[in-house]
Amino acid sequence: MVIKLLDSNTINQIAAGEVIERPSSIVKELVENAIDANSRNISIKIKDGGKEFIEIEDDGCGMSKEDLALSIKRHATSKLEKNNIEKINTLGFRGEALPSIGSVSRIRIISKVISDNGYQITVDYGKEKKIRQSPCNQGTIVTVENLFLKLPARYKFLKSARSELGAILNLLKKLAISNPEVSFKIEVDGKQYLSWVRGESSKESLFENRIIDIFGIDFLNNMTTLNHASSDVTIQGYIGLPAYNRTNSNSQYIIVNNRVITDRRLSGAIRSAYKDRLAKGRFPIFIIKITIPTYAVDVNVHPAKSEVRFANDRQVTSILISAINKSLAKSNSKSLNLSSTLKNVNTIHEKYQSSVYQTQGEMAIQADKTTYNELVKNSRNTNDISEINDKNILINSNQNNNYPLGFARAQIFKNYILAQNQNGMIIVDQHAAHERIVYEKMKLSFHNNEIERQTLLIPYIHNLSQIDKEKILSVDSDLLSFGIEIEDFGNEIIIRAIPTLIIGANLKDLINDILDCINDDFLLKNFDDRLNLILSRIACYGSIRSGRQLNIDEMNALLREIEVTPDSGQCNHGRPSHIYLSQEEIEKLFERT
Ligand SMILES: Nc1ncnc2c1ncn2[C@@H]1O[C@H](COP(=O)(O)OP(=O)(O)O)[C@@H](O)[C@H]1O
Ligand SMILES: [Mg+2]
Repeated sequence: MVIKLLDSNTINQIAAGEVIERPSSIVKELVENAIDANSRNISIKIKDGGKEFIEIEDDGCGMSKEDLALSIKRHATSKLEKNNIEKINTLGFRGEALPSIGSVSRIRIISKVISDNGYQITVDYGKEKKIRQSPCNQGTIVTVENLFLKLPARYKFLKSARSELGAILNLLKKLAISNPEVSFKIEVDGKQYLSWVRGESSKESLFENRIIDIFGIDFLNNMTTLNHASSDVTIQGYIGLPAYNRTNSNSQYIIVNNRVITDRRLSGAIRSAYKDRLAKGRFPIFIIKITIPTYAVDVNVHPAKSEVRFANDRQVTSILISAINKSLAKSNSKSLNLSSTLKNVNTIHEKYQSSVYQTQGEMAIQADKTTYNELVKNSRNTNDISEINDKNILINSNQNNNYPLGFARAQIFKNYILAQNQNGMIIVDQHAAHERIVYEKMKLSFHNNEIERQTLLIPYIHNLSQIDKEKILSVDSDLLSFGIEIEDFGNEIIIRAIPTLIIGANLKDLINDILDCINDDFLLKNFDDRLNLILSRIACYGSIRSGRQLNIDEMNALLREIEVTPDSGQCNHGRPSHIYLSQEEIEKLFERT
C-alpha cells in the first residue's frame, strides 16, 4: 500500500458527500449564504426539482473580485471572527459549501459590491474558469446546473422531481420561519410558485406574519403563545392547542438563534409537556424560537449544521417545559375553532351538488327516497333532542353574557350540549368535558393530599389471574393515595374504598382499566406520569357518561365548571371536549356573506 495525498477536487467531492446530498442541500447552503450576506430579498428558481437548475439571487452585500476568487476555495470563509469557533452568529462558518457544490456540478457565481463592477466566476466539476466582468445589481446570483451528472453513483439516488421539490419547499419553510425579516420568492419550472413577503412591522409581528403566511390564519385561531425571557434564555413561540394536532411531526419547528434545528431531547421535552393533553399518536404543532448567547450553544456538531448542543441542556429543557405548561394552562378552556373543518364541509357540499347534477333518472329518485325515508324514520326518534322551553331561553338571554361558553340551548344525541355565547355557538361533548373536570379535581385534591374516599358498604371482590393480582398489588400504595383501597384476598382482591368522586362507577371495568395501564412501560415512568395515567383512568369512571340526559340547569352548571377547569379544551385522551363555530362562520356556511 502506498499513501497518497488526495487532490483538491477529490477532497472537495468527499466533503460534498457529507453536505451536498440532494438539491435541497444546495438550496440550503446558498440561501443561508444569502441570509448571512444580510439580504432583504431572496429569489429562488428551481427547475426539474433542482436536478436541472437552481438559481438563488439576493440583494445582500455581494463579493468583491478578490473575495469571489476566494469564495470557491476550500476553508475560505468571511464568517469567523479571529478564527473564534466559540462565537458563531452566522448560518455558515466552515467555508465548505461553494467548493463542494463546485466539485459535483457546474456553479456560476455573479456578484457585485456597491462600489465596484460585477464579476463572475464558474466552476465546472472542479475546473475553474477565469474571473471576468459581468454587469449586475448589488448582490449575488448563484446558478447551479448538472448536479451529479458526472457522478452516476450519486445521481441515481436522486428522487423524482416532485419529491426533490417537496424537500426543497420543506427546507425553505424552515429558513423562512427562522428568518422572517427576509422576503422569499420562489419560482418553479418558470412559474411564480410562492412568495413570503416581509411586511413593514416590528420584530415580533414579522415572526407572527411569517407564521400566518406559512401555516394559515387557522393556526393562529387555534394556538397559544409562549413567552419567557431571562438573562440566559429567551423563548418565544406559537404552540398549537392540544386538540388542534397533526398525525405527524412535520409541523414542529425548533429555532435556535435563527437556525431551525432538530433535537430529540427538546422534542421529547415538548411532547412530555403536552402529555396528558394530547391523544395517542397525535403530534402538536409548534414553532418555538430559543435565543441563547452564542457561547452557550455549540452549532458545530453536525455536517448539515442541523443539530446543536447546549452547554446547559437541562436548564433549557426545564424552562421550555414549564413555559409550555404555563401557556397551555392559560389557554385552558379555549375551544377548537372550526373554520378548517368548515372548509371541508364546503367541499362536501360542492361534491354533493355536483353528484346531484350528474345523477339522472331512476337513480336520483331512488336516492331521494332513501334520504326522505331516513328522515322520516329519524324524525320519529325525537328523544334525541331534549326540548327547551321558551322560558329557559328568556331567562338565559337576560343572564350575564360574558361566559366564554355561553348558555346551554339543547342537548342532542344524549351527549352533545349546544350552547350559545355572544359571538357564536359551542358544541360540547359532555363526557369528554366532564372527564377532564373530574381528572383535574382529582389531581388537585391528590396534590393537596385530600382525595376523599368512601368505604364501600359492601366491599367489592374481584377475581384475577395470579399475574394480574401481583401486578395490581404492586401498586397498592399508589392506588391508596388515589383513594382506592385494595387488599389481597387469596385468589381474589378486595376493594374496600374508592374515591368519593367516582361513587357508582363500574369497579370491574375500572380494575381492568388500571391493569391495562400497569405494564412495563408504566413502571418505567416517573411518579408524576404514573399518577396522571392512573388518575385519568379513574376520572373516566367518575364522569357523566354519554347517553345521560341533562336538563338545562345541569348543562349550564357543566359549562361553568368547564370554564374554570385547567386544560378543559380536551379530555384526558386528548380529544377536543368542545368546539366553536362563530356566527360569521355559520353565515358563511349558508353563503350569507
Ligand atoms: N450570497 C453571498 N453573498 C455574499 N457573500 C457570499 C455569498 N455566498 C458566499 N459568500 C462568501 O463566500 C464565502 C464562502 O461561502 P461558503 O462556501 O458557503 O462558506 P461559509 O458560508 O461557511 O463561509 C462566505 O464566507 C462569504 O464570504
Ligand atoms: Mg455557506
